[in-house]
Amino acid sequence: MSSILSDTAPRFLADYRPADFTINTVNLTIHLDDTCSQVVSELTIERKGDVQQALQLNGEHLTLVSLVLDNQALSKDQYQINETLLIIPASSLPDRSHFTLIITTEINPQENTALEGLFKSGDAFCTQCEAEGFRRISYYLDRPDVMATFTTKVIADKNLYPYLLSNGNKVASGELSDNKHFVTWHDPFPKPCYLFALVAGNFDLLEDNFTTASGREVALEIFVDEGNLAKAEHAMTSLQKSMAWDEETFGLEYDLDIYMIVAVDFFNMGAMENKGLNVFNSKYVLADSHCATDSDYFNIEAVIAHEYFHNWTGNRVTCRDWFQLSLKEGLTVFRDQQFSAQMHSSAVTRIQNVRVLRSQQFAEDAGPMAHPIRPEKVLEMNNFYTLTVYEKGSEVIRMLHTLIGVDKFRQGMDLYFSRFDGMAVTCDDFINAMSDASGKDLAQFKLWYSQSGTPVIKAQEMFDSQTNIYTLTLLQQSPITKNQQNPQALHIPIKVELISDNNNEASQSELLELTQTEQSWQFSGFTSKPTLAMLADFSAPVKLIFDQNNTSLLTIMQQADNSFCRWDAGQKLLMSYLHQLTFDIDYTIPNELINAINDMLNSGGDRAFIAEQLSLPSFDEAASLMVDIDPIALTNAITTLATFIARGTQQQLLVSYKACQHEDLKDNAVANRALKNVCLSYLSLLPEYQYLVTQQYQQATNNDDILKENMTDSLAALTCSSKNNLDDLNEQLEHFENKWQQTTLVMDKWFALNASVVSEDVFTQLANLLEHPQFSLKNPNRARSLIGAFAMNNPKYFHCPTGRGYQFLADQIAKLNEINPQVASRLITPLIQFKSFAPAHQKLMKAELVKLQALTNLSNDLKEKLDAALND
Ligand code: TRP
Ligand code: ZN
Repeated sequence: MSSILSDTAPRFLADYRPADFTINTVNLTIHLDDTCSQVVSELTIERKGDVQQALQLNGEHLTLVSLVLDNQALSKDQYQINETLLIIPASSLPDRSHFTLIITTEINPQENTALEGLFKSGDAFCTQCEAEGFRRISYYLDRPDVMATFTTKVIADKNLYPYLLSNGNKVASGELSDNKHFVTWHDPFPKPCYLFALVAGNFDLLEDNFTTASGREVALEIFVDEGNLAKAEHAMTSLQKSMAWDEETFGLEYDLDIYMIVAVDFFNMGAMENKGLNVFNSKYVLADSHCATDSDYFNIEAVIAHEYFHNWTGNRVTCRDWFQLSLKEGLTVFRDQQFSAQMHSSAVTRIQNVRVLRSQQFAEDAGPMAHPIRPEKVLEMNNFYTLTVYEKGSEVIRMLHTLIGVDKFRQGMDLYFSRFDGMAVTCDDFINAMSDASGKDLAQFKLWYSQSGTPVIKAQEMFDSQTNIYTLTLLQQSPITKNQQNPQALHIPIKVELISDNNNEASQSELLELTQTEQSWQFSGFTSKPTLAMLADFSAPVKLIFDQNNTSLLTIMQQADNSFCRWDAGQKLLMSYLHQLTFDIDYTIPNELINAINDMLNSGGDRAFIAEQLSLPSFDEAASLMVDIDPIALTNAITTLATFIARGTQQQLLVSYKACQHEDLKDNAVANRALKNVCLSYLSLLPEYQYLVTQQYQQATNNDDILKENMTDSLAALTCSSKNNLDDLNEQLEHFENKWQQTTLVMDKWFALNASVVSEDVFTQLANLLEHPQFSLKNPNRARSLIGAFAMNNPKYFHCPTGRGYQFLADQIAKLNEINPQVASRLITPLIQFKSFAPAHQKLMKAELVKLQALTNLSNDLKEKLDAALND
């Protein structure tokens, strides 16, 4: 029964046209039942187009019970139904422009392992409708430009499902026969169906409130599994901070009397911004210092903010069609990044954004699924919730912010909301509002929405010692691909800093607007050649080709005003050594690196920033800057460089490690742990310091004083053990498992640690873990923590020359294809990027893709990616 019931033809942005009908109101009555839930949907429909047009409603995996049009039951010969559509021909429709249709369908939530539409997460019912999941609940015009007012009556067993939730305000509730009860919700804001949500279950409820700037009281409610109440506090505080920030920064207030968040264990992505009723992956809600790491805390705050910010950028103003997804996602990611930067260190936050972009988005943009932030062709929409749409989309908004400045940006946002509140609009509408408010011509800037690939910028500099004029020439080129034969020059903001060689001359910072293929700028005020620090704050998502010698890099590291430039120069230096080592593992790394690192450790600056400076480029970050990668040579290069650094700076590492450990002050506890654990990761490469790992694991996980236990430190120690396959590893893993077996989210970490063990044994281990009583491919977090962690965090064995790693991944994807196509499709990423690897690896990866392509019942999700990868 797992046949894939969806369209097999791609859709094109160019084919967009408004719907022939719209839906003004929806009255839903949902009788919840595990295997046969009944949905009665009463629609008021309005004809917008020609009277000749049939009404075509989307629907998948539905059993139609009855259709009533304006109080008349429709007989079978009055409509057609296939696997994806319900078609009522014009001849069966009234001539009037307004009519009502009552559709009764049945669905099976229990069998719904795709987790789209109505499904069960543990004992609770919940829904996920974005992008096109509502069509698995009832027949509907499932497109974001059809906006209706929803009233939803939920009916279920009183004891099993004490809470019955949906969007908007609760308007009625009561008891029914057979031990059932009902609650009716009304959402006054017209919305597209992708924002519909329903949740039913037994939860613990954390309640608080927020008073808006204009004095309205909003009830805040967070629903978690029983026993987890204390773990919802951080999410609640994060929500309140987000609400205050959006008022202060953009003058945006919340608009309903209640805001609800439900945490569920079975969820395909991070979280979902349904109007007034967010549904979250429990991983982005639950935290306490025992079970969550510092980065878990950070991510929870960011995701809570992200979903909250969608209430304006996404819900009040939504997308006309799914090609415009970045309208809401790019903008909302930008907003959550600005929020996080203000709540924490802006330097460190920016560095972390850039690491994600460079390691993952650049790879996507160079791979077979490369697409502009506004895609033009889509087979399966779920495949376009990408790093490109989200992260590069956010970079595009950030560039706009840089080009017009913070005040004009705010005016542009105000104009955008005043023009489009309550509407479904396009990326062009957004840019036009920004252009009108700022007076800036953004015609060329719009090319960022239609061109794909990471632009490459080449910098050339010249200093004329006769005239003392410094000339900087920049050249840009976007990648030429099959789908992009003739890329145009983009409008790129490039922030530069010129660092003077002489103490009595000031350094200069400038924002350059690169708009041509080649462009030059001249600077005076220097008596000798200054050192150029490019791309301050990473002002544009580009790759830079600029040969700077180590002396210049060291100057930037020490003297640049911009913290991003200081960090980036260090990473470039490290990257140059990695490069050398991949060609020649015996390459002699110059000792100046040791001095530079000792200087960093001694600098007394922000410890979180130093931790970032000390962290080597990850495998993926390095890989995205290389071609024809020999993955084994790269993993060896990384280990060799890390070991060289550890040997050379061990004294200082130990001093810093101890200092961070002892000065664990409350205020900067997070920064202290970050630096301490980077130091530990280096020290753990040297046998004489491995006792520190054991010690830290004990103190953080098995302490007489339970208040001293800490998940960040515990996990950091375990990561050292697993990366270096230390003697204590198995004992620690066993202890950790016993300690945490009841805590789902921590067990996810345990599975991920097992999958990251750098040892040949990992394959046996993986096979055993697939059989572990707590493992299930039906739970996306679990599947990702074992399979995803292996493919992403264990490059040495994932890229094992025998092809075993690739085969393991492909075998699991084949199973997931039947269970959960969205999860399968996300996990395939490392395999479809085979082109960046050396030929022997390419061949093995491709063989696995060919096998997958031959699967019967191949989902559209996988088909789209496999076709792109193999026909590229
Ligand atoms: N709109 C959601 C967000 O970015 C993401 C999302 C899209 C999603 N599709 C989903 C979440 C499916 C869960 C499941 O906030
Ligand atoms: Zn989002």
